Amino acid sequence: MSCMACKLKGKATNICRFRDALSPLLDEIAEADGLVLGSPIYFGEVTGKMRAFLERLAFPWLSYNDYSLTAPKRMPVVLVEAMNGTPERNNSNHFGTMEWCLTTALGEPERIIGYNTCQVAKYGNYELGSFFEEAKHAWRDAHWEEDLQKAYDAGRKMAEQ
Ligand SMILES: Cc1cc2nc3c(=O)[nH]c(=O)nc-3n(C[C@H](O)[C@H](O)[C@H](O)COP(=O)(O)O)c2cc1C
Repeated sequence: MSCMACKLKGKATNICRFRDALSPLLDEIAEADGLVLGSPIYFGEVTGKMRAFLERLAFPWLSYNDYSLTAPKRMPVVLVEAMNGTPERNNSNHFGTMEWCLTTALGEPERIIGYNTCQVAKYGNYELGSFFEEAKHAWRDAHWEEDLQKAYDAGRKMAEQ
């Protein structure tokens, strides 16, 4: 929208003032004890929806007077990604330039990455010749518990903070 309501002289605020269906969520995040953001990786980036959401969240944090970034409150952050890539071979730019905003305004994030996900249940039904269903399932069997543990540990750490 670039409505600039958050930058009005004398009324500047670091919570988005444009009111719509997302407003209650943005208000809640301003007071939250922690923030967990998750996105699949599409073409090397988080989804367009996640990016749009982060622009909306972070723009009121940004001062055009001195380019500082200040959220209403600092809080623990967990960033979750899911992707086809593996630790050795992936094209993820993670949360891109928005990571700087999140880190500066909220705090250094924890990261959880779900690699080599099963994109479909039955690979044989699709033109997905560069993937092998058996290898995908083997990866999931080998990493599922570990991934769940990482999520549990991150949640626990957040609660403890
Ligand atoms: C439009 C589209 C683009 C994708 N691009 C990438 C990519 O660049 N790199 C990658 O590792 N996986 C890519 N994937 C795979 C998804 O990241 C992966 O299937 C992920 O697990 C999807 O999230 P979900 O399991 O929560 O549905 C893409 C999938 C789609 C549908």
